Amino acid sequence: MSNEKSSDLERQLESMLEIEKFEPPVSFREQALWSDPEVYEQAAADPEAWWLGQARELLDWDTEPSQALDDSNPPFYKWFADGRLNASANCLDRHVEAGRGERVAYHWRGEEGEQRDITYAELHAEVQRFANALKDLGVEKGDVVGIYLPMIPEVAVSMLACARIGAIHNVVFGGFSAESVRERMEFSEAKALVTVDGARRKGKTAPIKPAVDEQMDELASLETIVVVRHTGIDCPMREGRDVFYDEVVDAAEPECPAEPMEAEHPLFILYTSGSTAKPKGILHTTGGYMTGVTATHRYVFDLKPESDVYWCAADVGWVTGHSYIVYGPLANGATSVMWEGAPDHPHQGIWWELIQDYKATILYAAPTAIRTFIKWGAEIPEKFDLSSLRLLGTVGEPINPKAWLWYHEVIGGERCPIVDTWWQTETGAIMITPLPGITATKPGSATTPFPGVQASVVGESDGQPIETGQGLLVLERPWPSMLRGLYKEDDRFIETYFSRFGTERYLVGDAARVDADGYLWVIGRIDDVVNVSGHRLSTAEVESAIVAHEKVAEAAVIGQSDEDTGQAICAFVTLRGGTEHSDELVEDIRAVVGERIGKFARPKRIIWSDDLPKTRSGKIMRRLLRDIAEGRALGDVTTLRDPEVMAELESKIAEEADKES
Ligand code: PRX
Repeated sequence: MSNEKSSDLERQLESMLEIEKFEPPVSFREQALWSDPEVYEQAAADPEAWWLGQARELLDWDTEPSQALDDSNPPFYKWFADGRLNASANCLDRHVEAGRGERVAYHWRGEEGEQRDITYAELHAEVQRFANALKDLGVEKGDVVGIYLPMIPEVAVSMLACARIGAIHNVVFGGFSAESVRERMEFSEAKALVTVDGARRKGKTAPIKPAVDEQMDELASLETIVVVRHTGIDCPMREGRDVFYDEVVDAAEPECPAEPMEAEHPLFILYTSGSTAKPKGILHTTGGYMTGVTATHRYVFDLKPESDVYWCAADVGWVTGHSYIVYGPLANGATSVMWEGAPDHPHQGIWWELIQDYKATILYAAPTAIRTFIKWGAEIPEKFDLSSLRLLGTVGEPINPKAWLWYHEVIGGERCPIVDTWWQTETGAIMITPLPGITATKPGSATTPFPGVQASVVGESDGQPIETGQGLLVLERPWPSMLRGLYKEDDRFIETYFSRFGTERYLVGDAARVDADGYLWVIGRIDDVVNVSGHRLSTAEVESAIVAHEKVAEAAVIGQSDEDTGQAICAFVTLRGGTEHSDELVEDIRAVVGERIGKFARPKRIIWSDDLPKTRSGKIMRRLLRDIAEGRALGDVTTLRDPEVMAELESKIAEEADKES
């Protein structure tokens, strides 16, 4: 069968699947925390009062809030502003005080098979000591502390220790390069950084501290680097600045009472990609964020802390890890699995082995991982006992119906509801999602907003809500866990999210479709943000890394559809006059991107181009680049300054295809 025909069939199949609904299994519904659709109406009747009820019910407050939303200065919204609480006390102390200290918080599994079961009591003790150590090192309430660690328990300890004393953590995903870490520390004027001697990946150890050192020397604000000894590799330490984690923890006092914080006290900054090369420092505060993540974690995952073993297979360095590995699960007293390693080390069945070993009941993962498992074959998970699973989740990118069905059948044994959760770093918590005991799901749709959240699809030009059809996704009213701003960039905050449709409506940056049942289908970004394996990158960020190469004159980056990673980075590169292109140069350019941003940002494909399609005003027409890279018929080229450029590019692509075949 020709490729064209098979993809036609696939499209037909996918559109048939769109209409098939999967009702929650009766046995699931009967046991679910929420099984009555009335919760939607209750929340919609008075969302502010409803959220205030959630905040009071789900969290321990030192001072109960009397008010939900303060919208006196839009879009700088405040929630629960007269309340006081501590996030780490909500994650730890209250469980220990209620006699749940012996419950396992994390079943940690190391790359080489090491096992550590960390109870709530142990985590509580370690967090108190490290909080005291940070204080001893001069860290105070309101200071920024960077965290650049792999998936080891110390990452959660560091975050909670910051929260305990009111320091603002700024976690950088371990896959980012040291140069990206420096940039993020510089923007946030971090006072301390917690990092590691080395990181392990698939049996190899990469030195981290030496790479960090190379970058941090010129950073005036950074007074301390705390180093976790994880791999035991040699680690240079600078007198007066660097200390070992174990030594400062051992030397610290054991008791550090949690300090009550104002609800709007900043909890963390997390840098994410936007339309320009400069990452945005998304700022989250304490009370609203904790309310959002605790409520969604409990009700979206139907969490029963006494019996569930929950596993969110993300990295703590992304918002999914913040909200659904650390704060949400711990606030709910959950027992979680934490896996240090890759999905194919020591073997391609390691995830399923972990589920079998820990009898995990809930798995939350990215569609890109599911697509990889499909490629490796169903026979791998089929070798393991996955009968403990009762609920599955996905996050980070649209899931294609075929992958949804595979997940449902092969992993979920057709008995587990799937929650496809849509949200963002900015939203802090899940916004659009099925409720597993209530919502009938449709493969590929995140379905409808969580109670208390209101989303619409609106017309691009007029902003009018669309009843059925495609448009821009917006969130209609403030919600507790929303970002409170971009760190030290108020104008950019307003410009990015609240200039197009006013301050009442949050512009998401995604296109979406709404169907006749009111179900939402998120299509993808409308800005220059690319989603590679659920990792968010800006095209401008990658372009500026590529042009840093001395032989490159200009670069344009697009996200190209990719079977494995959802989107892949494709770069059109113009070399400086007289430079010949070569395979070595491809590797060189990829290496520069790896150093500047991180390996995951390296272009999958580089297309040499003598010129780029530009409008008369000099703007690169990415739409045409996307068309040409994906082999589609070109749209309108009449606005180009030089329409010939496209013909040349087409012949380059044909040459490339010839070479490959
Ligand atoms: O485009 C949407 C996509 O991921 C973007 C947010 O990325 P980030 O801030 O890194 O957070 C990812 C984890 C929450 C969104 O604008 N996205 C996220 N979840 C989904 C999704 N697209 C479709 N379906 C989803 N479930």
